[in-house]
Amino acid sequence: MKRKIKTLFEAVAMPEGQGVTVHRSIGRRGMMNLDPFLLLDEMVLPQDADGAGFPQHPHRGFETVTYMLSGRMEHGDTSGNRGIIGPGDAQWMTAGRGIVHSEMPVASGEDVHGFQLWVNLPGAKKMIPPRYQDVSKDEIPTVMGDGYTAHLVAGELDGHEGAVRDIAVQPFYGDITLTAEEATLPIPEGHTAFIYGIQGGLSVEGQAFPTRTLAVLTDGDSVTVRGRPGARFLLIAGAPIGEPVARYGPFVMNTRDEIMATLDDWNKGTFLSAS
Ligand code: CO
Repeated sequence: MKRKIKTLFEAVAMPEGQGVTVHRSIGRRGMMNLDPFLLLDEMVLPQDADGAGFPQHPHRGFETVTYMLSGRMEHGDTSGNRGIIGPGDAQWMTAGRGIVHSEMPVASGEDVHGFQLWVNLPGAKKMIPPRYQDVSKDEIPTVMGDGYTAHLVAGELDGHEGAVRDIAVQPFYGDITLTAEEATLPIPEGHTAFIYGIQGGLSVEGQAFPTRTLAVLTDGDSVTVRGRPGARFLLIAGAPIGEPVARYGPFVMNTRDEIMATLDDWNKGTFLSAS
């Protein structure tokens, strides 16, 4: 069955990190969670925004996914991982029991434009050791389908497998550009799915929506997206977890007690050694 639009939800500009403006859809009032997704930010940092970025901060209990459209960001964490990601690159970071990292723009002559998605972990995996999947543009398969070109960060499409593997919610993460006036893409039935426009207007089953708007889809096994050739969007899906969500800033657990224990670890300096 074809998926339709269930809800359109506009992203709202808000300050985040240090001097950064993000356009937040998931993770703000009205849509705190879209199980298994906890947050979606479109980030824009002008190249001349001196010192702006995301200085050191912790995460526990979920995964953060960074996908870059332009500009370059350097990330570093307390266990010595360090690297730079640029246009078309992705970083899928499974924070698990805890990391402390920073993400700061690097001068590249370009504005930084990209996305950050938070993906929840089931309770049984919230305290696993942290894991990074840094995938460069070259490692991300480009799928030329009927009416579209897709950069496949995660998931399966037309016999191809995305670059990011072994993630709890079996995500699909595609950066898709229409090459004709419509394209039909498969989405596993029962998985939560949404479209977020990057460039050009789009419509699904007769309902149009602009960029910077989250289009949450009804259930089904595929979606047909229409627009002008060149229109570009993210299509993201994942299996819902169906557990309670207790959330406090950069920590996402199942219960308030687990959040209190996390804050305790943080205050006592045992955050990174907890298990
Ligand atoms: Co972070």
